[in-house]
Amino acid sequence: MTTDQQPRVQWLGRWGFVLAATGSAVGLGNIWKFPYITGEHGGGAFVLVYLACILAVGVPVMMTEIALGRRGRGSPVDAVRRVVMESGRSSAWSLLGWMAMLCGFMILSFYVVVAGWSVSYLWKLLTGSLAGSGVDDMVAIFVANNENPLNLGFWSTLVTLATMLIVGKGVQAGIERSVSWMMPGMVLMLLMLIGYGVFSGGFGEAWHFLFSFNAGSLSSDGMLVALGHAFFTLSLASGAILTYGSYLPARTSIARTTFSVAIADTLVALMAGLAIFPIIFANGMDPGEGPGLIFMSLPLAFQAMPMGTLFGILFFVMLSMAALTSSISMVEATVSWLCDNKGLSRRAAAWGTGIVLWSISTLAMLSFNLGADWTLAGRHVFDWLDYLTSRWMMPLGGLGMVLLAGFVLKSETFRSELGLAPRWHALWLFMVRYVSPLGILVIFVDALGIAHV
Ligand code: PHE
Ligand code: NA
Repeated sequence: MTTDQQPRVQWLGRWGFVLAATGSAVGLGNIWKFPYITGEHGGGAFVLVYLACILAVGVPVMMTEIALGRRGRGSPVDAVRRVVMESGRSSAWSLLGWMAMLCGFMILSFYVVVAGWSVSYLWKLLTGSLAGSGVDDMVAIFVANNENPLNLGFWSTLVTLATMLIVGKGVQAGIERSVSWMMPGMVLMLLMLIGYGVFSGGFGEAWHFLFSFNAGSLSSDGMLVALGHAFFTLSLASGAILTYGSYLPARTSIARTTFSVAIADTLVALMAGLAIFPIIFANGMDPGEGPGLIFMSLPLAFQAMPMGTLFGILFFVMLSMAALTSSISMVEATVSWLCDNKGLSRRAAAWGTGIVLWSISTLAMLSFNLGADWTLAGRHVFDWLDYLTSRWMMPLGGLGMVLLAGFVLKSETFRSELGLAPRWHALWLFMVRYVSPLGILVIFVDALGIAHV
């Protein structure tokens, strides 16, 4: 590390980083995206590949990113540049940092639209406008909610504003504290929904759907979606975890932290699946319904259970909060880059970023109404943002990251940052050198149809 640097702010408290990283990881990816892509790709086999990707790719990449962030003490671009220069390698590797920053930004542009759905459903429950709706009504309500650009734009703008307000205030304030009560709250709500599914039917079918790993029913595209989701759900290759790692105190164990975050994230996703699919099956809905899946199904359960409106309100409050703790992590990379390199204050950096973000997210939002026909190769803006980030940028960024760690940087860098016992270090090195890159390459090449394995 260079000596002319200001000491960088660090997380408050012993649990600061774990809370913030868990807050970043657990979000709409777990509760909105995981169930619907699992439904679209047929269940069990998809879940199995996803779990394998978390373990074989996600965990090693997360350790690598946290270590890079802490070693380089900066935004992804600066941290990677510093670390490669320290090893006497080409600063062209900082392109990885640029791609990660862009990726986080692109994800946020559609993420705020989904978070907007969540807040708008909170509003619907508060105003009682969902009362008495059946399965078909729920589908119609979701569609109607999207049809008016002013309505949808209002909610996504609200989320964008909230995100920028929090980010502008700085890394420590509020983030860590809110996560510490929200996570247990979310788990409780999911347990309650699972309990509801056990009593009202559909649970057995849901369990079977998620965990009967009958391989063979998964397309190679489905494998790539599973891989991309492993990155997405752990907030990898998008600047978030790397930048949060740059605030990590020197003594914290990276391996232990990574495992806590990965386990918490995986449990929440699986619980979300177990909460949602019983409702789908009990009501004869289609698991492959798409992005609206949870918004069409969950309110049905909240209507049928005792005190359901109250629970529904609590659920959507927590989902919106979970979305916020993720969305703030997506801009942190860009904001910290602007602060460090352009001399902007946090506040100015946050609002500047917010304006650009708002423009792109508006295009994503319009995909559901006015811009439904603005498609290219069959995808509208919202789809393109998701497609480019999950299927291309994150797997390729992750690949670059493990190759950098495994073959390019001096081994001393990771030996001291990770601080693992020799045996565990060897395992990590084996993962980042061979298992993760080959896993990514095989799935990628297979899905592109270049060669089939
Ligand atoms: N991990 C978050 C979720 O599952 C999404 C996210 C992606 C957050 C990339 C930060 C960066 O909802
Ligand atoms: Na997640």
